[in-house]
Amino acid sequence: EAIYLKDYKKPAFSIESVNLEFDLYEEFAIVTNIMKMNKVDGNEKTLELHSTDLELVELYINDLKLKESRYIISKESLSVLNVPSEFTLKVVNKIYPQNNTELEGLYKSGSIFCTQNEPEGFRSITPYLDRPDVMSVFTTTVIADKESYPVLLSNGNKVDTKDRVDKRRSVTWHDPHPKPSYLFALVAGDLGSITDEFTTASGSNVELNIYCDKGNESKCYHAMKSLKEAMLWDEQKYGREYDLDIYNIVAVDSFNMGAMENKGLNIFNSAYVLADEDSASDANFMGIQSVIAHEYFHNWTGNRITCRDWFQLTLKEGLTVFRDQCFSADLNSAEVQRIDDVKSLRERQFVEDASPTAHPIQPKSYISMNNFYTSTVYEKGAEVIRMIHTLLGEENYRKATDLYFKSFDGQAVTTDDFLWAMQEASGIDLSAFKTWYHQSGTPKLKVEESFSDGVYKLTLTQVIPNAVDSTKQNPYYYPLKMGLLDESGEEILAQTLVVSKEREEFIFQNLKSKPILSINRAFSAPIIVEQKSAEYAFLMKYDSDSFVKYESAQNFAVETIESMMRGQEINSSFVEAYGHLLDLDIDLSYKALLLELPSVSTLMQRQDEVDFEPIYEAKEKLAKHLAVTFEDKVMKLYVDNHFPNVSAIDSLNMGKRSLKNRALKILAPLETPAIGKLTQAQYNESLSMSDRVVALDILENTFSDFALEALGDFYSKYKDQTLVMNKYFSILSASHREGVLKRVIELQNDEVYDEKVPNLVRSLIGVFARNYKYFHAKDASGYKFVADKIIEIDKINPQMASGLAGAFKIYSRINTLNKELMRVELQRILNTKELSKNSFEIISKILK
Ligand code: ARG
Ligand code: ZN
Repeated sequence: EAIYLKDYKKPAFSIESVNLEFDLYEEFAIVTNIMKMNKVDGNEKTLELHSTDLELVELYINDLKLKESRYIISKESLSVLNVPSEFTLKVVNKIYPQNNTELEGLYKSGSIFCTQNEPEGFRSITPYLDRPDVMSVFTTTVIADKESYPVLLSNGNKVDTKDRVDKRRSVTWHDPHPKPSYLFALVAGDLGSITDEFTTASGSNVELNIYCDKGNESKCYHAMKSLKEAMLWDEQKYGREYDLDIYNIVAVDSFNMGAMENKGLNIFNSAYVLADEDSASDANFMGIQSVIAHEYFHNWTGNRITCRDWFQLTLKEGLTVFRDQCFSADLNSAEVQRIDDVKSLRERQFVEDASPTAHPIQPKSYISMNNFYTSTVYEKGAEVIRMIHTLLGEENYRKATDLYFKSFDGQAVTTDDFLWAMQEASGIDLSAFKTWYHQSGTPKLKVEESFSDGVYKLTLTQVIPNAVDSTKQNPYYYPLKMGLLDESGEEILAQTLVVSKEREEFIFQNLKSKPILSINRAFSAPIIVEQKSAEYAFLMKYDSDSFVKYESAQNFAVETIESMMRGQEINSSFVEAYGHLLDLDIDLSYKALLLELPSVSTLMQRQDEVDFEPIYEAKEKLAKHLAVTFEDKVMKLYVDNHFPNVSAIDSLNMGKRSLKNRALKILAPLETPAIGKLTQAQYNESLSMSDRVVALDILENTFSDFALEALGDFYSKYKDQTLVMNKYFSILSASHREGVLKRVIELQNDEVYDEKVPNLVRSLIGVFARNYKYFHAKDASGYKFVADKIIEIDKINPQMASGLAGAFKIYSRINTLNKELMRVELQRILNTKELSKNSFEIISKILK
C-alpha cells in the first residue's frame, strides 16, 4: 500500500474550471460540484476521481443523469466509465462535517465550519482529481443559516451575496488563480474580526481581515502587524507582491497543525494568531510573527508555484521555512534567530534522522503523506536552501529566485526545476549538491589538524551514515564557513570552504604559529562536526562568530557533563569559562542562550545506548555547582533585569526578560527559601506571561510548598482561555515532581481538557511523552499510558495519534531494559484492529 515517487504519472484529465456549492446544515452538508473536464490522454476511457467514503446523491455528464451502470464507487474512488473527451461532470454528494473528528476535509471547530485539505483532505469533501498537479479555477458558493453563520468565506474575491427568504444567506467567491484542490478553503461562522489594509509596491490596495471567535478581536493585532511586515518584506527581499484584493485569515481552536496557506484564506490554529501581553509569552509572539509570515510567503512559494506531487513537498516547505527564518532574523536578533533555528533542528530533526523513520527531504515512498510533514522536510529542507543561498551568494540567489518565479509561475513543479533555476541564473554547478535531496541521516565531518613550519593542514573526512535499509550512501557537497584565530584571539582569516569529497585536505600557509580553528560558522551546513580537543574556552572568549561562540559553550558543557558521567570531578576550567560568560556585555537574549546548559536531548543523542538517569544526575550536579559558585553574580543579573511592571514586547524588554528568567533558572537549584520567595514574588507581581510561566514552572519543580497556591491561582484566572490552559497542562505534564503520571491521568477529567482539540492533547499527553523521566519509567507505566492514548486517539484523529507515536522513535537506540518495555507496547499498538495507516506506518517502521 506504499506509494512510490518512481511511479509518478501525469494526470489523464484536466479540469478547466470548478463550480462548488455548499449547502450547510446542522446535521449534514450537500455539496454540488460542477467540473469542466478535458481528456489529456486520449486513450483513457475511465475517469477515476479520488473520493473517500462517497455518499453520492446524483451524478450527471453534460446534464444527463448517469445510471448506476456508468460508474463505480469504492472506498477511495469514484470511477466514471466511457467518458467523452470534453465534458461537464456534475456530482452531488452528502457529507457530515459535524461528525468529522479527523480534522481533515470539511469539519467543525466549535461552532465554526472550516477546512483542512492539504495534502488529501479535499477528496473527503467531493470527488476530484485530488493531486497538486491538477490546477483549476474555483468558484464557490456557500449557503448557510444567516443568524448562526453570518460570515461565509472561501478563496479569492467575493463576487455575490444573497440573503434569501428562508433565512439563509448565500455568498459566492471567485478565485482567478488556478490552484490545486489542497489550497481550497471554506469557512462559515459567527465570527469577530479586525480589518486593515496594505498598499502593494505597484499600488494595489489589499483588504486584510483576521477572523476569530467573538471576544478575541483584541488579541489579533500582533498577527495583523506581522502580516503587514511579511507583505513588505517579500516585496523588498524577493520582489513578490500579493495578487488578490483581499487576504483573509481565520483562527480556529481545533487544528492539527500550525496553519494552512489556502489561497487568500489562510486557516490558522488559534495558537498562532491570538496574543496579548496578559495571556501570551514572548515565544508565542515570536511564533505568531513567524507562522503568519510563513503562510503569507507560501502565496508565491507554494501557491503560485506549487508541487508536482507530494514527494516534492520540500520544494515549498523547505524554501518557505528558509524564507520565514530570514524574515524573523531581519526583524529581530539575527544571531538569536539562527541559534534558535539550529537548536530546534538538532532537537527534532537530528533525532528523526537517527531513527528508523529517517527519510530524505525528498522521500522515495510513503504510506500516509500526512506522516511526511516532518522536521526533515521542513527544517532540514530549509537548511538545504540556506546552503544554496551560501553557495550562490545573496546577489546570485536573488537572480535565481527571480528566474524561478518567472519560469514556473502557475505551474506544479519539482525540486529539480528549482535547482535548475538556481544553477541557470548563477552559473554555479549544483549537480553534486543534489545528494541532499535523496539521502537520509545526518552527515558527520571528522576534523583533523596539523601544523609545522608555518603550514596548517586541515584534514576533513566525511562519515556518512547508511540509509534506513542499510544501503551505503555517498559523500555530500556543501559550504563550510570557517575562520582561523591567532593566539591572541585575533582573526587571521575567514573563508567558506566547499566540502565535496569523502576525504580532503585544506592547506593554509605562512602562519606564525598554530592557529585556532573556528569551524562550521553560522552552522553553514547541517552536519555533526567531530573534533578532538577543540579550544572551547578560547573560542567562547574570542570568536567573532556568534554561532561558534555559542556552540563552543555548548560543547564545553557537553564535554564536562560527559566526563562527570564517567565519574570524574567537575572540570574547573569549564566553570571558569562559564563565569566569563556572565560578565559579557552583549545582546541580552543572546547572553541568555550562551548561559543555557545543553539539553537532555543533546546529551542523549551522543549516547550509544541511551539512558536518561546518568544524564540528569550529572546535569543537575553541574547546575547546582554553577548556582553555588556564581550565586551573587547571577543574582545581580536577575535584579538588574527584572522589571515586573513591564510587559512590552519590544526586543530590549524581551531580552531583559529572557536573561532575567535564565538567571532565575540558574539560581533555582540552590533550593533556598530566598529563591523560593523570589520566584513566588515574580509569579505574583509580574505582568508578563513569560515571567509568570517561568516562575510557575520553577515553583512546580523546585518549590513544591509554594506551587499549589500559584497553580490554583493560574487555573482560576485562565480556565476560560484554552490557549493559556495549554501552558498549565504542559507545566504539569513536563514536571519532575513525584506522581506526574497520576496527575496527568486525572487532568484528563478536567473540564477544560478535551481530547478532540489537538492543542490540548499535545500539551497534556504529547508533553508527557517527552518527559524523559516519567515516559521512560522503568516500570513501563509511561509507555503503557501513552500507548493506550495512541490506540484511543487513533480512532478519533489518526494524525494526532501518529504524532504521539513519534515519542517512540528513540526505540532502536535506547538501553535494553527500556527497549523491551517499549517493544511490548509498540507491538500492542500494532495489533490493534483497524489501526489507521498513519499510525501503522510510524509504528511498523520503528519496530523494524
Ligand atoms: N502547508 C502547511 C504549512 O506548512 C501545513 C499543512 C500540514 N498539513 C498536514 N496535513 N500535515 O503551513
Ligand atoms: Zn508551510
